[in-house]
Amino acid sequence: MKVLMVCLGNICRSPLAEGILRNKLEMRGLAGEVDSAGTAAYHTGEKPDRRSIEIAKKHGIDISYQRGRQFEMADFKRFDKIYAMDRHNYNDLIALARDPIERQKVEMILNAVNPKENRSVPDPYYGGKDGFINVYNMLDEACEVIVNMIEQKSN
Ligand code: 4NP
Repeated sequence: MKVLMVCLGNICRSPLAEGILRNKLEMRGLAGEVDSAGTAAYHTGEKPDRRSIEIAKKHGIDISYQRGRQFEMADFKRFDKIYAMDRHNYNDLIALARDPIERQKVEMILNAVNPKENRSVPDPYYGGKDGFINVYNMLDEACEVIVNMIEQKSN
């Protein structure tokens, strides 16, 4: 299973989602590929936000090696599942998708926990540290459901 996590800047939310899911796959000895990207190119080549690096590290996950990149059309073919962090990211990805197969790969990540509710992971960029703790907890819960789905499919 190849999974892409997508937010706006690829420095706060999606790098955390990538790190959390990769860690869960590794802990269970499951094969899979996880990457992340931003719909915007502002932070291409940059490390994740230090607040994301810090909260991941607190949970024993290193995301400091990740570098920001923009989503590209080839990602629709490369990945089986593309998780959008919020409504805007979802709409941007759906607008880019060229056919129903590509559209079907795109899903709101929190729908893993609350199906069909289309809840967004709030953008923590302009807020304080609490925002990052909240985002981490939301993503950890969603990735737990996602890793369970991947495990079931691999059996
Ligand atoms: P992210 O957060 O989409 O979770 O990476 C943001 C990072 C940077 C900006 C916006 C959101 N920005 O406007 O630069």
